[in-house]
Amino acid sequence: MKPVPIGLVGAGAFGLFCLDAFAEMPEVRIAAVADTDFGRADAAAARHQAKAYYSLDAMLKDASVEIVALNTPPFLHAEGGLAVVRSGRHLFAEKPLTLTLEEGEILLQEARANRVRLTVDYVMRRNPFWDATTRLRRDGVLGALLHMDLINHAAGLDLPPSHWFWEREKSGGIWVEHGVHFFDAFAWVSGYAGEITGVQSFARADGAVDRVECLARFGAAAAHFYHGFTHSARTEQTTVRLTFEQGYVTLREWVPTSIEIVTPLSSDLLIDYLPSEAEPVETTPTGTFRLISRAPEGKSAVYRACIQAGMSDLARAVREPEHSLSVTGQEALNSLRLAVQASR
Ligand SMILES: NC(=O)c1ccc[n+]([C@@H]2O[C@H](COP(=O)([O-])OP(=O)(O)OC[C@H]3O[C@@H](n4cnc5c(N)ncnc54)[C@H](O)[C@@H]3O)[C@@H](O)[C@H]2O)c1
Repeated sequence: MKPVPIGLVGAGAFGLFCLDAFAEMPEVRIAAVADTDFGRADAAAARHQAKAYYSLDAMLKDASVEIVALNTPPFLHAEGGLAVVRSGRHLFAEKPLTLTLEEGEILLQEARANRVRLTVDYVMRRNPFWDATTRLRRDGVLGALLHMDLINHAAGLDLPPSHWFWEREKSGGIWVEHGVHFFDAFAWVSGYAGEITGVQSFARADGAVDRVECLARFGAAAAHFYHGFTHSARTEQTTVRLTFEQGYVTLREWVPTSIEIVTPLSSDLLIDYLPSEAEPVETTPTGTFRLISRAPEGKSAVYRACIQAGMSDLARAVREPEHSLSVTGQEALNSLRLAVQASR
């Protein structure tokens, strides 16, 4: 397959990480980088032997670009996304899709009308440990799914008070900017779109909301989400725990790098679901078994691979129009719907 030329707009913290991930992929070629900060655009473009532009509009005049990776802050996604799809380019959208449901619906309609493909960079969807959990649930290996719990102590202390993340008009707030990842992942794992049943939030002394919590249900599974942007990179910690009739699944780190299964079932039933060789099975005093499968390459490499898998899926859809995307715009809209509900 001839590499699909991509242009990235927003060469900030995450944009640079994405560019390095894309640069390793044979399926795509970095053709252009745009940023309103001239220095960032020039430096990122030079690093990847690409053309530098100082606005999205200028980049969209470059006929060689087929996919646009939209890495600007969230409040610019609706306007930027519309410009991309109306120009006939395919869109690799950073989350959140948009800040509001109305904007998201218009963006999807315009993508359809302009016959372009659109996906969202939901990295959990490409993560081997989330994927193993989803396959275990779909095959009913551990019995029915009863409860899902996310505890996310995130590195908010590393974001200065002036960062757009703390301004709800720019980020959409914690549920929209960040929670969408986990609303989408829980919907995927459970097989249900989900609904929010209760919410609370906490603000710091300067008024910025830094902790949010909600209860939800996904079909017959109860769910709890907590996000606290109260830690630094040194102490951040994320744990997802799923309770099934026949055992417990735990995913650790916000981009999981391991899966732990505790169950009385034989490990023979589980081994084929695990992404990497499981460590020796240990018998606990209650007669259950503990299986742990880890990614030896570490979080950064797993994260990069998740981004690459998303872009690879879109590049394939661009070259093979019958290819179904694994993360659709409609799914992005569904998770945004839960985030908007939780923000009210
Ligand atoms: N999928 C993930 O795992 C993940 C992780 C982190 C961030 N993100 C998302 O990535 C996006 C970017 O986040 P970030 O942390 O890199 O932000 P950032 O503030 O570090 O970078 C944003 C960049 O966009 C540029 N920019 C601003 N307005 C622009 C405009 N009108 N035209 C062109 N460039 C413009 C800025 O100069 C900056 O370089 C956000 O939507 C965020 O939610 C996703």
